[in-house]
Amino acid sequence: MKKIIIANWKMNPPTFKEARRLFDKVRKGVRKVKNVEVVVASPFVYLPLLGVGSRKLKVALAAQDIFWQSNGPFTGEISADMLKEFGVTHVIIGHSERKKWLGETDEMINKKVKTALKHGLIPVLCVGEWEREVAGEIPHIVEEQVRAALKGIKKGDFKNGIIAYEPVWAIGTGKAETPDNATKASLYIRRIVKSVLGSRTAEKIRIIYGGSVNSQNAESFIAKDIRGMEGMLVGGASLNAAEFIQIIKNVVEADRRG
Ligand code: PGA
Repeated sequence: MKKIIIANWKMNPPTFKEARRLFDKVRKGVRKVKNVEVVVASPFVYLPLLGVGSRKLKVALAAQDIFWQSNGPFTGEISADMLKEFGVTHVIIGHSERKKWLGETDEMINKKVKTALKHGLIPVLCVGEWEREVAGEIPHIVEEQVRAALKGIKKGDFKNGIIAYEPVWAIGTGKAETPDNATKASLYIRRIVKSVLGSRTAEKIRIIYGGSVNSQNAESFIAKDIRGMEGMLVGGASLNAAEFIQIIKNVVEADRRG
């Protein structure tokens, strides 16, 4: 399956001028890179501006959040249709920073995943434990998060979905998960998806890794012999165009060597 690399810009860069420059550099840098999907999740306000004239783009656009209603008295929120109008195709849902700073709950995440699917947006569902209790063990909370987020979703509906395993202790800390554990997490998550949505969907979805990914460690997450991580969600390192492009190239190369 084609690997996917998603830049999560979070609340960066501080000006649109810088965002435009970063986006254009990434676009240019990946023009000739084949067999990979590249997505940039930018702050809401830049999305319409980045999308202008970018129909032929190799770089897809993602939002960092979505609201579950289509319109109405929901101050500050953004609907799926509003995003789609500006060419957004993917949406990050349930990032741990939204849980931490905005109190986002499993129920809200579940509603958001359903909304994205209903409107044809590809959800990038984030799951991951806050702390690693036992070395090498994927904590049970990851299973609870996956089950809660997928509750009530029809079997085939999530087949294009993406789940990002992001252990919170690895986000922005420079301490990435080990490739072995990431692979373990991927197998673990796929097993849970299988038990909730069946094996066909579990086979189709992509599971990616996020947490201190950089150009030095990215390729180590691409497992050679078993189905491991199928992409990355990159925060800090995605704000440096050269570094982000290098991550993409390293993943493509690791994938090619297979
Ligand atoms: P990081 O962030 O790459 O800076 O660790 C990843 C994320 O939060 O998605």
